[in-house]
Amino acid sequence: MKEIELNFKVRIYPSAEELPEPSLKLILLAREAALRAYAPYSGYRVGAAVLLENGEIITGNNQENAAYPSGLCAERTALFYASSRYPNVAVYAMAITTLSNGVPSGEFAKPCGGCRQVIAEYEDLSGKPIEIILDGSSAITVVDGIDTLLPFRFKKEDLGRKE
Ligand code: THU
Repeated sequence: MKEIELNFKVRIYPSAEELPEPSLKLILLAREAALRAYAPYSGYRVGAAVLLENGEIITGNNQENAAYPSGLCAERTALFYASSRYPNVAVYAMAITTLSNGVPSGEFAKPCGGCRQVIAEYEDLSGKPIEIILDGSSAITVVDGIDTLLPFRFKKEDLGRKE
């Protein structure tokens, strides 16, 4: 038996204003996007803003449906639109915010497992880590790549295919 220890780093900013300019812009756009979420069933609004290599910023929010599983998370709404509009343009960074009564809720936004898997796919596609900026009620948490949020993840190599 051998035991391995995995380490990861997160950066914690006490307020959005302390973020570097591009990250602050993304957080503010994610917060705006959350306000436009269609979340009548959960009442939980999520916003995402994605910065692409070409400088474009794409935002998205959660879209719910009376047939619950038919809805989609904010992260995937933004990433799928970004990829459909600008295929094969690398994703540099992504900000995610969750709003409760208009203010960031919880310790920090935690993308669901499905969204982590989708973020990972776009990271693999470009080969560059995506900076993930997670808004929170009392601090902003930043990770440099999806590995921190989804270690031992399923990859296309696991399919035994090359493409
Ligand atoms: N939601 C997101 O938009 N992103 C996540 O990563 C977690 C959950 C949405 C889906 C649903 O509309 C609501 O939050 C409650 O789960």
